[in-house]
Amino acid sequence: MAKPLLAGNWKMHGTATSAAKLASEIAEISGENPEIIVFPSFVSIPGVVSALSGRKNVAVGAQNLSHYSDGAYTGEISGQMLAELGCTYVLVGHSERRTYNAESNELVAEKFSAAQKSGLTPILCVGETFQQRQDKIQLQVIKAQITAVIEKVGLQSVCDAIIAYEPVWAVGTGETATPDQAQQVHSYIRAELGDKGVDTQLLYGGSINADNAADLFTQPDIDGGLVGGASLEAEHFNNIVQQLIERK
Ligand code: 13P
Repeated sequence: MAKPLLAGNWKMHGTATSAAKLASEIAEISGENPEIIVFPSFVSIPGVVSALSGRKNVAVGAQNLSHYSDGAYTGEISGQMLAELGCTYVLVGHSERRTYNAESNELVAEKFSAAQKSGLTPILCVGETFQQRQDKIQLQVIKAQITAVIEKVGLQSVCDAIIAYEPVWAVGTGETATPDQAQQVHSYIRAELGDKGVDTQLLYGGSINADNAADLFTQPDIDGGLVGGASLEAEHFNNIVQQLIERK
């Protein structure tokens, strides 16, 4: 059975100063359980790592990485750079990067591979657009997103990582997938992974808040959440952490 996990994606919010403060507030109020990861912006990572030093209950991840390991790629950041700063996780394939930075399934697979080669655990984000759900092709879309990565790194490596189902129409919109809609996709992903994926952590993301988290977390294949807006305030985030701890 997969271990519960709650991750906060801070996107391009705050500054290095406010990020360090938020990190220490989250570490203060969250207990040892479940696993928690925060994803500050690149420039806030050193301050967040330092604010969390000596605290084992909150890990730090990056929101993106280059698919290259090294070289003349102006403005890019490698997995090795992130690992050296103290990151242990990295998001790959977030829908905002797929949309605004034209990241294809193949590029996401390259990034996933680069992350693992640097010793980082990737969180592979997948999800369909509103139109794709209207067309009832959400499972095909998600299958293609995951298959591209399996073809690059193999099934075992995907099962060793984390997958976040984030329907694009639910990200930042206030419209959450219903627990049934989310569970349907999660159980599909679990089945695609087969026996090797029994312990793979599958997170739901998309407008999670303190009011809807409990119902999502009771679903058998939802192991936790990837929270955006509601992770920017420690008290709100901790409330969601508590709901994961107390889930039935
Ligand atoms: P919201 O929780 O703000 O919808 O964002 C979800 C998300 O994109 C997390 O990666």
